Amino acid sequence: MMNPMKATVLFVLLGLMVHEISCQETRTPKEEVAFLKVRLDLMKDRYKQLCNQYSSLANNCSAPAITCNECPAGWLQVKDQCFLLNTDRHNFSTSVEKCKDIGAHLAILTTREQHEAVEKEGRRIAGFHIYYWIGLSDSKTEGEWRWVDNSALKTSFWDVQRSEPDNNQSQGPEGEDCAVVDSYTQNWYDVPCEFPYPRICQKAASPLL
Ligand SMILES: *[C@@H]1O[C@H](CO)[C@@H](O)[C@H](O)[C@H]1NC(C)=O
Ligand SMILES: *[C@@H]1O[C@H](CO)[C@@H](O)[C@H](O)[C@H]1NC(C)=O
Ligand SMILES: *[C@@H]1O[C@H](CO)[C@@H](O)[C@H](O)[C@H]1NC(C)=O
Repeated sequence: MMNPMKATVLFVLLGLMVHEISCQETRTPKEEVAFLKVRLDLMKDRYKQLCNQYSSLANNCSAPAITCNECPAGWLQVKDQCFLLNTDRHNFSTSVEKCKDIGAHLAILTTREQHEAVEKEGRRIAGFHIYYWIGLSDSKTEGEWRWVDNSALKTSFWDVQRSEPDNNQSQGPEGEDCAVVDSYTQNWYDVPCEFPYPRICQKAASPLL
């Protein structure tokens, strides 16, 4: 959908072109640059549209996939989202801030595909880093899990065999109000928010153009 602003610009451009044809004027370099800039922006929008259209269709007829957007170097890409596993350890609230500092947020893991990417990277990093903060907590209302963008939890990956989340109060009366993902098993656990863990940050992939 073309936004009204772009539509107006296009309209003005068409006007300019007609004007030019009728008057045989030539644009000054400055006008030419402005003109090309608008055309480029329109083509970028069109590229994005077509690329997304291609991607959603290609899957259905097993045509080769192409990427319309990309992640910064070192980040994992899953569809149009980027993930970064950071191994320095902080409590939940500091981890929230650390992700914000790099223009991201604590990870909102909603698909098996995302968990698989996290597991692969977790195993590559290995060492003592098994559990990573994800952006999920129930510190506002016990039992009501919310993501850091305040959306409600829909698909969950708790370790149900261990009856997670269990708000285990053995570490303190506040229980366990924040969630980590076990990068080896793809399962979630609730843990005390003040414990130090590494974290997974997430942000949207940027368009290639
Ligand atoms: C792709 O296939 C799925 C399931 O067969 C269908 O729901 C979806 O609309 C299709 N997508 C496109 C873009 O045709
Ligand atoms: C709570 O955690 C403690 C220490 O890790 C453990 O011994 C205990 O079994 C846990 N309680 C429940 C209900 O899982
Ligand atoms: C988290 O860590 C920061 C920095 O060490 C500290 O200021 C803050 O009080 C901690 N928050 C919690 C809830 O433990």
